[in-house]
Amino acid sequence: MSHSEYPYFRGRRLRTGEKLRGLVAEHSLSVNDFIAPLFVMEGEGEKSEIPSMPDYFRFTPDLLLKEVEEINKLGISSVLLFAKVPDNKKDNEGTEALNQDGLMQQTVRAIKREFPDLVVMTDVALDPYSSYGHDGIVKNGHIVNDESAELLARMAVSHAEAGADFVAPSDMMDGRIAVMREFLEDAGFYNTGIMAYGAKYASSFYGPFRDALDSAPGFGDKKTYQMNPANIREAVKEAVSDESEGADIVMVKPGLPYLDVVRAVKEAVNIPVSVYNVSGEYAMIKAAAEKGWLNEEHAMMEALIAFKRAGADIIATYFAKDAARLL
Ligand code: PBG
Repeated sequence: MSHSEYPYFRGRRLRTGEKLRGLVAEHSLSVNDFIAPLFVMEGEGEKSEIPSMPDYFRFTPDLLLKEVEEINKLGISSVLLFAKVPDNKKDNEGTEALNQDGLMQQTVRAIKREFPDLVVMTDVALDPYSSYGHDGIVKNGHIVNDESAELLARMAVSHAEAGADFVAPSDMMDGRIAVMREFLEDAGFYNTGIMAYGAKYASSFYGPFRDALDSAPGFGDKKTYQMNPANIREAVKEAVSDESEGADIVMVKPGLPYLDVVRAVKEAVNIPVSVYNVSGEYAMIKAAAEKGWLNEEHAMMEALIAFKRAGADIIATYFAKDAARLL
């Protein structure tokens, strides 16, 4: 620092008290920013904790409604639904995914009936329904693209028919947003939104989620469709392409190790950008806190504000309820 500046600039002046620090904060969090992911399973009167996601549960539809009631009361705007499908309903064609009376479809209907204002989003991908645990149809050991995209588009229409406000394709098949948009328009669902997982990486941070849904790939990995963590320009290209195919919101996933990608995508598109604070990121904070190695609340809020700083407009996070309570 040059001698003439000292001590006229004193950065600490703006940090002298809590109120002042709040006044000059560049970013802030609000309950409006959150999407709460939810896991639904078949049955009645049951909830089960996901072992690798402490304090996070799968619920049967009746108890899920109680959970949604709490989420709604906290002022959180949106939920993102994932269905846990029993093994005997899994196949390679996604038959159960298209079942109008399937678990996902029934759950959407029940939530919209009780909470018409809540923004209900549904995951669109085959892995929970697939006997192979892959996000698309498998043929000769390959995950075929175009057939999968069409099947996923039909799945999206089935969710829209059940009342979903947004469908969230997390599969990373090429061209699926265009097909999905076309199918939705043709079926008259012109107001159903698409939140596209535009830049979704092949990540080990999804481990706990795959425990929650019992959806780990049965062979190989997801690297032929999910992205290489080494790439960022490719993420921008994917996101821009999803925007031009008709996505309404574009998502980056995972979150914390990919904040640079959030920023790059934010600068490249003109639609809202969401980020997924994924299961492994949740598990890391929970595990360290359980060991007494860091303060859970502080680490959580720090991670969440980091997403805003990086440029995210919307955050899907398993911490949604905890953070909403603190705000
Ligand atoms: C599957 C899907 C995954 C997640 C959301 N949708 C896992 C995967 O791609 O294997 C991960 C979410 C999380 O880890 O919290 N289409």
